[in-house]
Amino acid sequence: MKTNRNHEGIGFTRRDFIKTGGAVVGSMAAGASLAQTKTEALAIAGGSPAVTFPKEQRAAIYKWPPYGADEKAALTAAIESDSTGIYKYNGDLEDKWKQYNGVPFCKSHMNGTSALTTMYFALTRELPPGTEIMVPSYTFFGAILPMRFFGFVPVFVDIDPKTATLSVEHASKVITPKCRAIMAMHSWGLPCEMDKINDFAKEHGLIVLEDCAHAHGASMQGKKVGNWSRLGIYSFQATKVLPGIEGGMGVYQQREDFERAAAFGHYEVCGKYIAGSPYAANALAPDSPYRKYQGTGLGMKLRMHPLAAVLIMAQLEKLEKQNATINGQVRKLNDRVCQLPGLSEPVCRKDQERVYYNSNILFLDQAKAGVSRAAVIKALAAEGVSVGAGNYPENHKYAVYSEPEWWHHAPTVPKTLAGCEEVNSKAMNVALFRRDCPELVEQYARAFEKVWAHRDALPKS
Ligand SMILES: Cc1ncc(COP(=O)(O)O)c(C=O)c1O
Repeated sequence: MKTNRNHEGIGFTRRDFIKTGGAVVGSMAAGASLAQTKTEALAIAGGSPAVTFPKEQRAAIYKWPPYGADEKAALTAAIESDSTGIYKYNGDLEDKWKQYNGVPFCKSHMNGTSALTTMYFALTRELPPGTEIMVPSYTFFGAILPMRFFGFVPVFVDIDPKTATLSVEHASKVITPKCRAIMAMHSWGLPCEMDKINDFAKEHGLIVLEDCAHAHGASMQGKKVGNWSRLGIYSFQATKVLPGIEGGMGVYQQREDFERAAAFGHYEVCGKYIAGSPYAANALAPDSPYRKYQGTGLGMKLRMHPLAAVLIMAQLEKLEKQNATINGQVRKLNDRVCQLPGLSEPVCRKDQERVYYNSNILFLDQAKAGVSRAAVIKALAAEGVSVGAGNYPENHKYAVYSEPEWWHHAPTVPKTLAGCEEVNSKAMNVALFRRDCPELVEQYARAFEKVWAHRDALPKS
């Protein structure tokens, strides 16, 4: 998806908008009929684009990360503080993260991939090399590949094409006697069906893992993601719901997992507890069996950059409000456009509170709509809609999984996974509106309605 960024943070007011004439479109009745919109020529056919909202103001609405005066002030204060004490920010973030998510233990990391690597290391306390771990193929490589450092082997699970999250039904078909853990990934901020995953895991004696890299603040049945599993991770990379440019967090329900994970890449927490030291707050407990690894830890150095911790804490203050704003804009747009033939959104259960990572994913059923995805995207883009074809990695297609030399034993690589194929053939990534902007929502809805009104004239394949 083409992402417009404006680092000037240009804002806009309703008055600016009216001055631009955008309100003329904005004031048109919501849900105008397709017949009405058919009288307007498509922009690709020489008509006027439906989105008239000024480009630079649009860029301010799409802008991510949303850094401003608060973040600048927090960073300035941090770099002006005593440079040896600066690591205290990592401990502060861990405390806030535990409180916000209600998790008993957590450890900050350089990024999500290092938190995942650490998570797999933590599992070596009970899972021997050769253990298989069920993972969705539809994910980022960092969620799977690090397992090979510990002799673990992935079993690729498909996604449910209605949600783009792990399919328990498919998991039940591909589970093997060597499987001892299963990973859920909350794709694009939509929680997996964690109750079903946990039931499945219980039935088969699997440890549940959660990759929450897309889902900061999401919950199910009132319980935040990251708490539905024994070990989980978050990423704070620049595009994420809670951006720290780079950063990650491991969350752990059991003290043993936390201590093992912390000792792996954080030599500083194993050392002697020195009152007043910046590490004191997050040092391991005096009776921890991992305290003896003072001076070395267990071999890695995966500490988060403290300025990332500062940025993340500044953003955390606004996370709930930011998620509510984005959700509000998406609801207004999707409630309208998902009434168009062949257009739908991932199914979110009533007991799930989702968030939105990166884009508002819509599914296009080309047969029902009677138009190809490429044609719809081209026509919408000409109308001024920021949209692209969703094409997320299907890990089983990457070379590294088909070469036995990298693995304890060769993973079984499926030829194709129908759910992944379906989602990647029907997903359209529409830009998220990160600020309240009813006029732009209205213009986007009109653009969709206009394209749909003309879809008979557009290519079908
Ligand atoms: C699903 C998923 N898991 C893990 C990660 C790893 O996070 P990081 O980029 O912080 O290493 C990402 C990052 O894009 C991701 O999308």
